[in-house]
Amino acid sequence: MQHIPPARWISAAVTALLLAAVRLPAGAADAAPAHLANVTILATGGTIAGTGASSTTTIGYTSATVGVQSLIQAVPELAKVAHVSGEQVMQIASESMDNAHWLTLAKRVNALLAQDNVDGIVITHGTDTLEETAYFLDLVVKSRKPVVLVGAMRPSTALSADGPINLYNAVLLAASPEAVGKGVLVAMNDQIHAAREVSKTNTSTPDTFKTTELGMLGYIQGNHPFFYRQSTRKNTADTVFDISRLDALPQVDIVYGYANMQPTALNALVAAGAKGIIHAGVGDGSLAAPMVPALTAARQQGVVIVRASRVGQGIVARNGEANDDALDFVVADTLNAQKARILLMLALTKTADSKEIQRMFYTY
Ligand code: SIN
Repeated sequence: MQHIPPARWISAAVTALLLAAVRLPAGAADAAPAHLANVTILATGGTIAGTGASSTTTIGYTSATVGVQSLIQAVPELAKVAHVSGEQVMQIASESMDNAHWLTLAKRVNALLAQDNVDGIVITHGTDTLEETAYFLDLVVKSRKPVVLVGAMRPSTALSADGPINLYNAVLLAASPEAVGKGVLVAMNDQIHAAREVSKTNTSTPDTFKTTELGMLGYIQGNHPFFYRQSTRKNTADTVFDISRLDALPQVDIVYGYANMQPTALNALVAAGAKGIIHAGVGDGSLAAPMVPALTAARQQGVVIVRASRVGQGIVARNGEANDDALDFVVADTLNAQKARILLMLALTKTADSKEIQRMFYTY
């Protein structure tokens, strides 16, 4: 069923059209490319598709209510940069994104990118777990064609909603030759980030997505993407992961480090069947004294233990705060705990060998 675009999307689009009409003759920056790329927008929900009670409702709104066709119709400028089509893959708030959703989404992305008539994919997504979905896709998409994730921090009905311009930038990026072979990208707030390194850093502001220390890849300005750097880690077509025949992923859970930490949660997760544990330790992935015997016992039962850090930046040093060689643990390198969970799940689909898993953590 066709959704009627919310008033804010319509007025934003009309305003943008008027502005474009005024600016277009001025320069080449707005000129449409001679051959438009074919970009498919896969919609999954989130605030970009959310609606609030009024134009000033920026909290307490409802996520995932506007359908993909309405999102597209609300930004007619998309037609200047790509031939756009849309599919509603799911309609959820991203806090409820799960492994099954990821497998569904990744299989659809791979099927579309295998077609000659699809040049790039944009995925509209809630911002809460956007970085996780981006990294999952970065590891399992089997194509060098652009895949760009985009969200919004303000619902579609809000004053200065960021969804329309973010969506425009994401389509522009997915249609651009510069984005080919760059791995899965995140386009938010006029910036381009690599899936592996970007994080949501603020609960509510539109500039929430940052690649704090390693640095974002570039900007989108004046209708062009500008790249300045690239991740050195392998991604997409260069990974060993193949989800085409998977309908589930191994259970991997996270335990979070804090003062007075006890192994209660860890033991419960192991008893519940976890095949891997990400220990998001304090500092350089340090282990509180009560955790060492519990983690050791879990490892002896075959659970793969990855030492990550709750700090959010920096390398977790192998054999630094723990003797990983002796304990047979893996370190997360620079991955945050939620992304380490994704890599460990995928690693466990290939091997149970901790040395091989460690190699993967230094590769992807
Ligand atoms: C969500 O992640 O679905 C809600 C929050 C957002 O999209 O900003």
